[in-house]
Amino acid sequence: MTIRFDRVSLTFPGATRRAVDDCSCEIAAGDLVVILGPSGCGKTTLLKMVNRLYEPTSGSIYLHETAIREMEVTKLRRKIGYVIQQSGLFPHMTVAQNIAVVPKLLEWPRAKYQSRIDELLKLIELPPEEYRNRYPGQLSGGQQQRVGLARALAGDPDVLLMDEPFGAIDAITRETLQDEILYLQQQLHKTILFVSHDVEEALRLADKILILDRGKIVQYDTPFKILTQPANQFVHDLVGADDMVRQLSLLRVETAMTDLKLTDWPGPGDISKDNPTIARDDNLRQALSLMLGTGASSLTVRDGDRPVGVLTLDYIRNSVAAQHKE
Ligand SMILES: Nc1ncnc2c1ncn2[C@@H]1O[C@H](COP(=O)(O)OP(=O)(O)O)[C@@H](O)[C@H]1O
Ligand SMILES: [Mg+2]
Repeated sequence: MTIRFDRVSLTFPGATRRAVDDCSCEIAAGDLVVILGPSGCGKTTLLKMVNRLYEPTSGSIYLHETAIREMEVTKLRRKIGYVIQQSGLFPHMTVAQNIAVVPKLLEWPRAKYQSRIDELLKLIELPPEEYRNRYPGQLSGGQQQRVGLARALAGDPDVLLMDEPFGAIDAITRETLQDEILYLQQQLHKTILFVSHDVEEALRLADKILILDRGKIVQYDTPFKILTQPANQFVHDLVGADDMVRQLSLLRVETAMTDLKLTDWPGPGDISKDNPTIARDDNLRQALSLMLGTGASSLTVRDGDRPVGVLTLDYIRNSVAAQHKE
């Protein structure tokens, strides 16, 4: 389900400047978009307008071409899962009861939501027999965030809003949770808006990154483009573009490849036979070393055994060179 912002602004009562300032962009269905920027730049405000916790002062937001202000708030929120930093679980309810909140509101029959709970617990890798009847206080912080995610997914929403969901989690658990989000997204293809102020998190997770500076969108592009062609000095400094090689190790190969679906394939330059191959979720630094090590000028990107894309040295080189021209 696409989300479109059309000239959206919000000024809080009594504020002298806009918290969100004339934002327009389109989030494609199935994309994971990270909203990135320093504290106070308007990330949470932008997110909260999507489920109408805040209403824009001007402009419109569309879900799949319907203006959300025309929708009933409860109906809108049923299409949207919401995950926040403090998992927001009810402490006096078990894991199962927490996850069942939305399905019960939707009046699912008991058998249906019981099996949904187990399915979700398996998905977030908490064995149901062991975790179903625990209370939030009997879980680690990372496990609580996973249950928060399961709860947000329970009603099978099309859209997920996540506001710094791993912000209070230690670095190592955080990486595990990031991997799980990527793994989940490969299966679920939700449209996800994910707020973060952590550049590495954004580079690792995002299909596209939306960068906010004082309420304005300054760049909205793939992690690779943001890193190699930052729109201005602010973006350059924010994403640490000076440390390109290190940052490339955070980017998945698939974020810089040419998708075979988008090209005439097999085309005249059939490259698949001689090319070394690399997995789509390997990182760009590994891809570069493979190219430099084998002398290959392009790699076939595979998903399991299936070729899904092509990555060329020229593309990487030209992108990096474009930055240094300026
Ligand atoms: N409920 C509110 N009332 C008044 N001002 C607010 C409110 N929420 C946020 N702001 C202000 O709006 C700006 C953007 O805040 P926010 O969206 O929370 O930023 P971020 O999530 O990027 O840290 C900040 O200047 C903040 O102080
Ligand atoms: Mg915030």
